[in-house]
Amino acid sequence: MEITSAEFVISNTDVKKCPGGTFPEYAFIGRSNVGKSSLINMLTGRKGLAMTSATPGKTMLINHFLINKNWYIVDLPGYGYAKRGQKGQEQIQRIIETYILQREQMTCLFVLVDSRHEPQAIDLAFIEWLGENGVPFAIVFTKADKLKGGRINSNIRHYLEKLREQWEELPPHFITSSENRMGRDELLGYIEQINKE
Ligand code: GTP
Ligand code: MG
Repeated sequence: MEITSAEFVISNTDVKKCPGGTFPEYAFIGRSNVGKSSLINMLTGRKGLAMTSATPGKTMLINHFLINKNWYIVDLPGYGYAKRGQKGQEQIQRIIETYILQREQMTCLFVLVDSRHEPQAIDLAFIEWLGENGVPFAIVFTKADKLKGGRINSNIRHYLEKLREQWEELPPHFITSSENRMGRDELLGYIEQINKE
């Protein structure tokens, strides 16, 4: 799919204030610093569209970006950032959960995990919660440029084996890098296919 336009629309903490209408939307979630905002910039080809930072905890709000005037990308705050403190984390958790459970336009949630790391308990628990709540999602492995080819494949295989302990059927997955645009066509193709349905 070609991205012909990408515009920031609004930032919110309140789901009720998110854009109205029926355009489908695709949200990006995962631990702080996993690369959500960078991936959004890579997908849209707009470097400064979503705010990124080397310091975790950059994105604090629900951010809507209107793509090609007929669907949305949503950048969400990361979960599991200990330095936010207990109260801060609970607040972010509430924003995320309310958005996921109440936002009817949310068509697919992309759950980002760092392709370099072992499956993390916090991500596995989150994925399990998605399953319990019947939320449609896909897994996106990030920062693949930081690994050599063979290592990427073995890490992903290992991750999927871990998921298979919880799931009979595996969710779709994508291997990406915001540095070298790996996975861009596959991810946008997937969104295009769902948009057509
Ligand atoms: P929060 O908003 O804090 O939750 O973080 P985020 O998930 O939006 O991460 P962000 O996109 O801000 O990226 C965090 C850091 O990882 C930045 O320093 C990025 O440059 C770096 N980064 C993100 N994606 C990639 C990637 O694909 N490859 C490499 N090498 N670095 C990446
Ligand atoms: Mg971010």
